[in-house]
Amino acid sequence: MSKFKITKVTAREILDCRWNPTVQVDVWVNNEILGRADVPAGRSTGANEAKEIRDGEKRYAGLGVRKAVRNVCEILGPAIIGMDVTDQRKIDEKLRVTDGSKDKSNLGANALIGVSLAAARAAANAVHLPLYRYVNCNAHILPVPLLNLLNGGKLTSNDLDFQEFCIFPIGAETFSEAMAMGNAVNNELRKIVIKKYGKIAANVGDEGGFATPIVKVDEAMDFLVEAVGRAGYEKEIVYGLDCAATHFFNSETQKYTLEGNELTTAELLDYYKNLTAKYPIKTIEDPFAEDDIEGFVRATKELGIQIIGDDFLCTNPDRVRERAPLGAGNALLWKFNQIGTLSEALDAAELSYRQGFGIMVSERSGETEDPIIADLVVGLNAGQIKTGAGVRGERTSKYNRLFQIEAELGSQARYGGRDFRAAF
Ligand code: PGA
Ligand code: ZN
Repeated sequence: MSKFKITKVTAREILDCRWNPTVQVDVWVNNEILGRADVPAGRSTGANEAKEIRDGEKRYAGLGVRKAVRNVCEILGPAIIGMDVTDQRKIDEKLRVTDGSKDKSNLGANALIGVSLAAARAAANAVHLPLYRYVNCNAHILPVPLLNLLNGGKLTSNDLDFQEFCIFPIGAETFSEAMAMGNAVNNELRKIVIKKYGKIAANVGDEGGFATPIVKVDEAMDFLVEAVGRAGYEKEIVYGLDCAATHFFNSETQKYTLEGNELTTAELLDYYKNLTAKYPIKTIEDPFAEDDIEGFVRATKELGIQIIGDDFLCTNPDRVRERAPLGAGNALLWKFNQIGTLSEALDAAELSYRQGFGIMVSERSGETEDPIIADLVVGLNAGQIKTGAGVRGERTSKYNRLFQIEAELGSQARYGGRDFRAAF
């Protein structure tokens, strides 16, 4: 007989950081142990992500999630009642089969992932372990934060074509030190952008980076480099970009529109070569569109830095299985709601590691204060996390959870640092 029986599953509509509704799920074990999880939402989404369900009614501009909540309470919940909560793979399989679609569109990826994560939390609580340790008894690596200090693309209202301009404090000694460095750079950056564009330049975008009305990629990079220099961390900090190229790719002309120019894959690659020669950029996410395999293969081979697949891989084991062996990218952006259950997301991570890929665990632009990715990045020993700038509560909740984990691990904690792809 199961010791840790799921006895009740409930859900409700709550809000994410964009004032849009999202799903929160409670999984109860033996009527006394609770696991709760919130579901994040993307805005700059890939076409191949699992599909969330939205109500499409007048309230909340169509974005209500009452249907998804009903699907949890009336269908997915009852389907897993009585199961052993520590049997994550079986639970997730049951969720998948109950949904019955390939992309989770029948009952909603936002319903499935909520149940899946709440079950994992409930299981960890039931066995009295922090979640990071429940998923991995060898969890000990604190991630390097890829700090998104300037926002563009779909995540803000300026005209920068790339979505995220980040600093990557690989030379810090610890996670805590990296966060303090990030703060020093951000303070300098605020002064720099205000001096050039006035006070309005220091308003922030969806992930907490400044939404300065910059147009040129080089100008954004120059600002970051100047801020890092003024803070005195040239030796410790390198740079990262999320180009989110799917969103400036025109599938009809098969060209990329960058700063008003129409570029082919080869021309965009040349652009990246110049850019990475000019600035110490060590990681680029989605440099090419979600199905531009050639672009990814060439970027991986010719740029010699970390090339991360977000829209390109969609945390989907099938896409990783197909694309990783081609040398298309060398890192996975890990977002569990792109696939819809925790076990499938863990499969995507395992497959990636076995192909020699790195893993960057990521927030979505629409987050709640649920810090679950902090536990999961340590659980995966991934060594890198992307969860925005430390100026908004739904981002600081992740960083604050990482401070707790760092303290809990004590002398066993190891910071990803310069070996962020393979620190042990
Ligand atoms: P999203 O964007 O969460 O809106 O999809 C973030 C990203 O592209 O990494
Ligand atoms: Zn991205």
